[in-house]
Amino acid sequence: MTVLKSQLIVALDVATLDEAKRLVRALEGIVDTFKVGSQLFTASGPEAVRYLLKEGKQVFLDLKFHDIPHTVASAVAAAISIQEGGRGIMMCTLHALGGLEMLEAAAQAARKEAQATGVKRPLLVVITVLTSEAKKDNIPRLVLERCALAKHAGLDGVVASSQEAALIRREFGKDFVIVTPGIRPKGSAAGDQKRVTTPADAIVKGSDFLVVGRPVVEAPDPAAAAKQILEEIKQANLTS
Ligand code: C5P
Repeated sequence: MTVLKSQLIVALDVATLDEAKRLVRALEGIVDTFKVGSQLFTASGPEAVRYLLKEGKQVFLDLKFHDIPHTVASAVAAAISIQEGGRGIMMCTLHALGGLEMLEAAAQAARKEAQATGVKRPLLVVITVLTSEAKKDNIPRLVLERCALAKHAGLDGVVASSQEAALIRREFGKDFVIVTPGIRPKGSAAGDQKRVTTPADAIVKGSDFLVVGRPVVEAPDPAAAAKQILEEIKQANLTS
């Protein structure tokens, strides 16, 4: 990955669009990629995505679609149709538990909708095992199975903890996208996340994108917190 800045995705896990806007302004010139997840999307809908696109930001829409194939395909098409100035979302998530048919339907819908509307097709990534889950037996095996499912369905990659990132990179090659949440810079609280990692460790293990919520969103100085993470990413890229 060459665009270091875009390796950091800040999760706009806040209650209102106004709060999200304040955060985006506070991070102006530092962070250019933001995640809109179920909290903000439920509160403010596609308006949150349109706002970010208008501001020239990249949007990761993390709604973890999991439903019957037809419904998920329609939801993916709807997500891609949220556009501003010829740009749409850069990435969105689907749940591996939806199965192969659902994932294939999503991949097909994404290609069709992007082509029909003339936007770049977003990356489609699959949730393997949530980073808040620690008790499942044999997580690495489950993660690899779900990576294989994603690849088989023609998707771009997965969301996985850095604990599995090195294994995924080895098995699925350099073009398979790995997105890692559960990032905790030294000294920050884990919250409900169990399989946490530092920004540097995630990069060294082979993650392409790091998703960071509370360590930035709840920091007394979000800009300083983001800068510190970016510095760590930079150092790790130099050494890995
Ligand atoms: O606040 P924190 O840094 O833990 O936020 C992590 C973000 O990444 C949350 O928005 C959460 O929904 C998301 N996420 C996750 N685990 C996954 C997929 C997404 O924590 N497997």
